[in-house]
Amino acid sequence: MKDNIVLIGFMGAGKTTVGRYLSNLWAMNFADFDEEIVKQEKMSINEIFKHYGEKHFRNMEKITIQRFQGCENFVISTGGGIVKDKENIEGLKKIGKVIYLYAPLKTLFDRIKNGNERPLLKCENPFKEFEKIFDARKENYELADIIINTENKDLEKIVREIDEKINS
Ligand code: S3P
Repeated sequence: MKDNIVLIGFMGAGKTTVGRYLSNLWAMNFADFDEEIVKQEKMSINEIFKHYGEKHFRNMEKITIQRFQGCENFVISTGGGIVKDKENIEGLKKIGKVIYLYAPLKTLFDRIKNGNERPLLKCENPFKEFEKIFDARKENYELADIIINTENKDLEKIVREIDEKINS
């Protein structure tokens, strides 16, 4: 059986898409931490931020990391801000191999700019905010066990690279 895989990366990195694809390909279970929190709280991420604030959401992320300790045969995709607290990365590494899906900021922003489900970008100048948030997290993403540059690569290529790096 393969180790669990934990995907991290900024908004728009493709964590959920790659995670679902990988889990199907390798016959593993799939969990998306954002979805786990939405199920737990019975409200959308936007509503959680609006009613309880970011701090509460971050706390829910921590609880979710604890809940998945000891799980087996899982591919997990996380929310982009899970690395804000460096301690979380240690918790994620105890679950499995942590893989950072990297893409340049402009590419990431183009992928998500038309969506409405990211509360942190509901502001005057979303790209500026996007850049600021990324800069503050960059170093922490790079603490992952494996880094995959996803720029100009299709799903199959990304997954092939993950497979190669896991086994090297
Ligand atoms: C967040 C990213 C979102 C979600 C929440 C906060 C962040 O997940 O967890 O809106 O702080 O970067 P995605 O990375 O899936 O967009």
